[in-house]
Amino acid sequence: MAYFDNGNALFADARKNHYAIGAYNINNLEWTRAILRAAAETNTPVLVQVSMGAAKYMGGYKFVKDMVADQMDAMDITVPVVLHLDHGDYDAAIECINLGYSSVMFDGHKLPIEENYAKTKKVVDLAHSRGISVEAEIGKIGENQDTGSGELADVEDAKAFAALGVDKLACGIGNIHGIYPENWQGLNFPRLQEIAYAIDIPLVLHGGSGIPQDQVKKAISMGVAKVNINTEFQLAFQEATRRYIEEQQDLNKDKKGYDPRKLLLPGTEAITERMKEMIDWLGTPAIA
Ligand code: 13P
Repeated sequence: MAYFDNGNALFADARKNHYAIGAYNINNLEWTRAILRAAAETNTPVLVQVSMGAAKYMGGYKFVKDMVADQMDAMDITVPVVLHLDHGDYDAAIECINLGYSSVMFDGHKLPIEENYAKTKKVVDLAHSRGISVEAEIGKIGENQDTGSGELADVEDAKAFAALGVDKLACGIGNIHGIYPENWQGLNFPRLQEIAYAIDIPLVLHGGSGIPQDQVKKAISMGVAKVNINTEFQLAFQEATRRYIEEQQDLNKDKKGYDPRKLLLPGTEAITERMKEMIDWLGTPAIA
């Protein structure tokens, strides 16, 4: 029977020993299989996360949990898997806790800071009573809107949220989701340093796709233990699928190139390969 690890020991070890574990967004069945396969083939722990939008697309949080668990059983997955809600609002976080996700992110960045704080505390209390891990966000980590930089999180807020007992903290340090604009100014290391000195829980780097490797590695050396990846795999999938179609393999009727199991295969395999490369440079160690 599939078991979901809450990841607390894994991420604490990652922060202490200066490596990161990837947090990979799933969008459908193919994504789930591709990500579990890369984790199994490298024998490394993995965090599988689903956004509210992707969960809605797939049929809801219960469907996602059952699908991931059933795939783990079907694939005989033995590495630790954390099942995590990504950027959940309050209701989504409560629902996923009740469904048995092993980790949830409550993203209250749109709320006034006092309300974000109060709701985060409620989520922490309920989650911890069930052994579930909680990630909070401070400082908005937005989408690419052609700004040169994302927001910077406040160090005092970081201290206050850590004191609430959150297990991981996502802090804006200039990072943004999606494809980075040409004029992006890079990660703000002085702010990361201040936050990392102030709190010793694992820090989370959202918008991990497209940040130069040397910057991600530097952030990991300073306290980032979880790196979130979505766009990177969307691009890998898109490139491989485009190649398949440009080579007109979908038009090959003899080989049934139009069969979705064939049409989706190159993209799915590209995700696994891209993830294995990432595991290598994030420094995620194999399970002993
Ligand atoms: P990217 O899509 O930029 O990789 O961001 C993923 C993420 O941070 C999910 O929370």
